[in-house]
Amino acid sequence: MNAYNTSKGALELRELDSIAEMIAAEKIQKLVWGEDTITHPKELLIPIQHEGGLAAGAFNADRELVGFIFGFPTRDPTVLHSQLLATLEEWRGLGIGTALKWFQRQWCLERGIQEVRWTVDPLRSANAEVNIRHLGGVAATYYPDYYGVMQGIDAGVASDRLLVEWHLSSQRVIPRINQPPQDRGFEDAQAAIEVENGVPCKLRFDLSCRRILVQIPGDFVSLAKTNTGQALQWRDQTRQLFQNYFSKGYWITEFTRINYPAYLLEMRD
Ligand SMILES: CC(C)(COP(=O)(O)OP(=O)(O)OC[C@H]1O[C@@H](n2cnc3c(N)ncnc32)[C@H](O)[C@@H]1OP(=O)(O)O)[C@@H](O)C(=O)NCCC(=O)NCCS
Repeated sequence: MNAYNTSKGALELRELDSIAEMIAAEKIQKLVWGEDTITHPKELLIPIQHEGGLAAGAFNADRELVGFIFGFPTRDPTVLHSQLLATLEEWRGLGIGTALKWFQRQWCLERGIQEVRWTVDPLRSANAEVNIRHLGGVAATYYPDYYGVMQGIDAGVASDRLLVEWHLSSQRVIPRINQPPQDRGFEDAQAAIEVENGVPCKLRFDLSCRRILVQIPGDFVSLAKTNTGQALQWRDQTRQLFQNYFSKGYWITEFTRINYPAYLLEMRD
């Protein structure tokens, strides 16, 4: 059990330990991903937890679940696959999502697990902020349309995903433990996308540059709802860039918002 203080009161971070809490985990999934999405029901969460997965949450003073994290073991006993991370909308931006990931890290290390992996929509800036900038995750694998057609907050655009690798004891991760991320400028990096009127108009694929910035929209979830055409353009253009650069040995090592939201890609040593 861990305590985590927010401006809305202290929270308790711990594993779920009753059927009522598993039902609360079903409810938070519906609230976050949409009523019409197929959630991970308690019939799945409970046995996976029993077999070595992690189902944990952030509880407020009224013992309500306001944040939830869920992951399952993989064929490699030193790797956990993290499947869900959610904070209720009215509790976002308070550091809860990040705190749950640090809780997950500690839980894993206590069990000999050294790496956590998860897939994430590369165009969601909030996720990039948490996964890459705060936690020190890296990524070099791109799955186009990973889940096929989806509903809820993922409806309307192909479900492309990045595979984030979180190397729990790496020097990229340790300095970030519960620390605000450093805002470094990336002046030496070359922009791979030119944006005009809110959409990518020109791509640059230049292997002579070792550090590349790939811009993403500030709020892709809203864009997908209000202007699906533009959202599809972003999906298509960034997919080309990620796939091309990854195939040539680049990987994502940072995320910045200094001039615009963008990933930093570097040539892997
Ligand atoms: C991703 C998610 C879990 C983050 O939860 P959270 O509790 O708000 O996260 P944190 O408060 O720890 O935020 C970490 C950083 O992300 C930023 N952030 C959070 N929400 C953001 C948003 N909507 N837009 C931009 N940045 C955002 C925060 O500002 C913070 O950075 P900062 O401390 O430098 O300001 C939450 O937005 C969510 O539930 N999203 C829907 C489900 C989802 O996409 N889950 C992840 C994939 S499984």
